Formats: sequence, structure tokens, C-alpha cells
Amino acid sequence: MILLLYAHTKWALNPCFLVIAFACFILLVSETKAQPKKQWVVPVSVNQLKSTIKADANVLKEARKNYTIFCSTCHGNTGKGDGMAASSLNPKPADHTSDVVQKESDGSLFWKLSEGRNPMPAYKQILSENQRWGLIAFIRTLKRK
Ligand code: HEC
Repeated sequence: MILLLYAHTKWALNPCFLVIAFACFILLVSETKAQPKKQWVVPVSVNQLKSTIKADANVLKEARKNYTIFCSTCHGNTGKGDGMAASSLNPKPADHTSDVVQKESDGSLFWKLSEGRNPMPAYKQILSENQRWGLIAFIRTLKRK
């Protein structure tokens, strides 16, 4: 019994064990820190932003094209957030078909699209205001049935 206890203590004091235990501890601490996804808070005033365009068939057609070019690598062709680059990104691209996104105001989505947040680029310098509103209208058509 004593011998067993002795062997046990010796094992626990082994430098290798200590190193591994320390590494596990560090990993645990960093995992806990990485956990909560930072909420993307928008200024309340952006909810008042109103679209500058009428989303007719032509606008939606052009928006679909832009979506395929600029958005689908991350958000996927159907907006589910499952684009080619998605698996390597943190945070993950938003699912545009989800209730969470669909319940947001047009203004809020427009503002997020314009300002971006790492890893998503800001589109206010890349796409015109009308193009961006077109994309918001297009996102509305992706709503899960
Ligand atoms: C490089 C990858 C990438 C590209 C390209 C990209 N996005 Fe995103 N997008 C993201 C990520 C990641 C998030 C989630 C960001 C977060 O929560 O911090 C996001 C979030 C969003 C949101 C906010 C959703 C919400 O309600 O929180 C909108 C709207 C959006 N993207 C639209 C677009 C549109 C439209 C395009 C194309 C013009 C586009 N994105 C291109 C990665 C991308």
C-alpha cells in the first residue's frame, strides 16, 4: 500500500507530467476565454435607415449576381453561411436564411454590410449605396420557408 502511494507520488512529481498538466491548464483557460461569441451591436439609430431603391425583378437579379461574386465564398450560394471559406473563419459567417438575421431591421443589416466586422470586409467603399440596398432586398428573399 505504502509502496503504491510512493509510486503514485513519484509519478505526479515527474517533470513530464507537470509539463503536460500545465499545458492542459493553459489550453483550458484559453478555451474558456474564446467561448462567448461577441454580439454585433449596432447603433440604435441605424434601425431608421430606409432603402433608397424599389426592389423590382431587375434589382433582385443584379443583387443575386453581386451576392454570388462578393458574398457566397463565405455565406454560401443560398445564404446558409456555408460558403467555401466558412469552415476556416471565426466567427462563422451569418446564416442569412435564419430567423435571427431575418428578424433584424433592414437598416441594421445595411449598416453591418456597410461597416463590416472582421473577417467580413466593409462594403461601403466596394459597392454603391443602391447595390447594398439591393443585397438587403435579396437577403429577404432567402428567408427560410
Ligand atoms: C470573408 C467572408 C465574408 C464575406 C465575403 C462576406 N461576409 Fe457577411 N459575414 C461574415 C461573417 C464572418 C459574419 C459574422 C460576423 C460577426 O458576427 O461578427 C458576417 C455577417 C454578415 C451580416 C450580419 C448578419 C447579422 O445579422 O448579424 C450581413 C448582413 C452580411 N454578413 C452580409 C454580407 C453580404 C451581403 C456580403 C456580400 C456583399 C457579405 N456579407 C460578404 C463573413 C463574410
